[in-house]
Amino acid sequence: MSKSNDKALSFVDPDDIGYNDTKNDHFSTILDARLSRRSLLRGGAASIASAFVGSSMLTACGGSDNVATPTTPTTPTAPTEKLLGFAPVAKSLLDSVIVPAGYTASIIYALGDPLTATTAAYKNDGTDTDYENRAGDHHDGMEWFGLSADGKASLTSVDRGLLGVNHEATTNEKQPSFFLHANGGTASLPRPASEVDKETAIHGVSFVEVRKVNGKWEYVKDSAFNRRFTCLTDMELSGPVRGSALTFTKYSPTGVKTRGTLNNCGTGKTPWNSFVTGEENWAGYFTRNATDDTARSGEKSIAALKRYGSSQGGASRHGWETGGTDDKYARWNISKLGTSADGKDDYRNEMNGMGYIVEMDPYDKAKPAKKRTALGRFAHESAAFSKAVAGKPLAVYMGDDSRNEYIYKFVSTANWDAADANTTNPLAIGDKYLDSGKLYAAQFNADGTGKWVELTLSNAQIAAYAAYKFADQADICVNSRLAADAIGATKMDRPEWCSVNPANGEIYYALTNNSNRNINPTGSSQLAPDSANPRAYTDMKGTSAQNGNPNGHILRMKEGAEGSAALSFTWDVYLFAAEASADAGKINLSSLTNDQDMSSPDGLAFSPATGICWIQTDDGAYTDVTNCMMLAGLPGQVGDGEKVTLNYTKSDGSTLAVTTYVGKKPSADTLKRFLVGPSACEITGLAETPDGKAMFVNIQHPGETTAAANIADPSKYTSQWPSNAGYGAGKRPRSATIVITKNDGGRIGS
Ligand code: FEO
Ligand code: CA
Ligand code: CA
Repeated sequence: MSKSNDKALSFVDPDDIGYNDTKNDHFSTILDARLSRRSLLRGGAASIASAFVGSSMLTACGGSDNVATPTTPTTPTAPTEKLLGFAPVAKSLLDSVIVPAGYTASIIYALGDPLTATTAAYKNDGTDTDYENRAGDHHDGMEWFGLSADGKASLTSVDRGLLGVNHEATTNEKQPSFFLHANGGTASLPRPASEVDKETAIHGVSFVEVRKVNGKWEYVKDSAFNRRFTCLTDMELSGPVRGSALTFTKYSPTGVKTRGTLNNCGTGKTPWNSFVTGEENWAGYFTRNATDDTARSGEKSIAALKRYGSSQGGASRHGWETGGTDDKYARWNISKLGTSADGKDDYRNEMNGMGYIVEMDPYDKAKPAKKRTALGRFAHESAAFSKAVAGKPLAVYMGDDSRNEYIYKFVSTANWDAADANTTNPLAIGDKYLDSGKLYAAQFNADGTGKWVELTLSNAQIAAYAAYKFADQADICVNSRLAADAIGATKMDRPEWCSVNPANGEIYYALTNNSNRNINPTGSSQLAPDSANPRAYTDMKGTSAQNGNPNGHILRMKEGAEGSAALSFTWDVYLFAAEASADAGKINLSSLTNDQDMSSPDGLAFSPATGICWIQTDDGAYTDVTNCMMLAGLPGQVGDGEKVTLNYTKSDGSTLAVTTYVGKKPSADTLKRFLVGPSACEITGLAETPDGKAMFVNIQHPGETTAAANIADPSKYTSQWPSNAGYGAGKRPRSATIVITKNDGGRIGS
């Protein structure tokens, strides 16, 4: 089953991919002004007084170990302090985590940290094994689940809890996972089984207990709650796709289960206190033989595979399929190799088991994960729940992060019953709300309105779609991208995380960047700017031109009168990311200052405690000036800004006028940089204790720009964090969770 050994590995940036070349409409029609113009006063630049953080030391905050046993959900308390009272952090290229003066950040949980009493300490020299019992790599989305003193689920505990942590991927620079292997590992095929086994184990999710002892946060190595999910853990398919012939495999001939979760990026927390994780760039881990389209001749599966980025002969990201003859390696080759009509004798359908929102019970290790297939299959980021209103359905907002992909929402069939918040069996409540409902994709209009279009065979555009013949709703859930193509959803600038503003229910989406926006689009993948994705420009990074929308923006939406079940919405752009010095009329449309400027917003989460909108970056465009960062915002609401028309001149001399809606420009008091990370990292993941006084954040892939050839020379690593901050053995950089506290015991962001 292994592919030929002369095939190369694939080293494209999996985040920077796009397969959507359908001809959906764009929205550049100019309509009347919808919003009134407002003038804004800007505050002066704040002084910089920052704390360099990097050590594993902690400041004593005098916290007690008092743990209450909760019975009701927490409600955010009204802020009594001045939010964003801290002095903004300056941009930085240091190999350190920097937070404002008065704050302390401490490292508590890094790649390889043992999760059982008997697991050996992490040596961090490439010889470590047993990753099924260690923290995985590339910490990403993260959620907090409180624990009472007697070890029960708690909605109010503030000093003991579980963190659910995504482990998205591992650092590859023309050599798979080289920091995990003593000499950097094997860059050619076949890959040794010992290397593959490490790499499959560092992907997935971990649940880890954390606690505050004598004022200091630590993770609990021997906690009975610690748990790992890897890309080989048995998982159930739930919802419309369960039992579909599209998921029949040798491993699950009835299509009811699959192995593992993969490339877990954003997360979410359900109103019933369970963890959900999004599977993002999973397609690149699979391979197909060079003649697989011939083997599948006449089948619609070819169109489906291509739409999700799987071409025959395409190399896989790690070459895991070459690890040996065992089934756990063979599954990564999804070629049609068997003789069956339905795929029960091979792994031709294996990739249809990846790409979902997956629900997990943080507290019960006996419960399997469930893939909630009704929420669609694409490059999932976070899953943001609408405010739960008794008697109304729940909405789940989601994005598909590839260039030119779509924004989605799922609306539950069941109406919310507040009693379900206190369940001891969250996956059963998940069955109720997440396995039955309607899936929608978004269309954005140039007048600041938009609509949700249901993805259903009842829609004639889907039923009669020429490019793909859908069989049933399971087929629509597996091939959501194709269904959204059929109804003409709006192609977006890479939808990353979304989050719901607890103050007013509005939905925020980070659109991280898009190199395929162009005033003069060529080929099938380039798009002209439109109202909701209105910028196409060139930003210089040294002598390198970054074209398209290199800095990204944050869109926000307000549902119509029906709330979660509304079929229409209004929208504007909360923020356009940009360099402070960029042209304010064309690029820096939100007039960001040096205390606020940013590029490529990615992680985005509202604090339930303070209501602050936290923005995290995963950038490659502004990294000549600053490492990635986290900012705190106090946004207003859809419609609080102004209408702006961008006038472009095309190469043939004609003009293109694009109208957009720019949210109220932030002041020095409503948007501030709070944190800058170490070298060559991404800032991601955000979880808080319910009192808002401890914030957990992830530093992903420090030093990812290191050349694999330099593995033996730590002085050439582009980061040595967190060892340079006193955490752990060895000098190889490690993804890690930090905890941020305020030295005066106050809430984070005040
Ligand atoms: Fe894993 Fe699209 O970020
Ligand atoms: Ca630049
Ligand atoms: Ca992301």
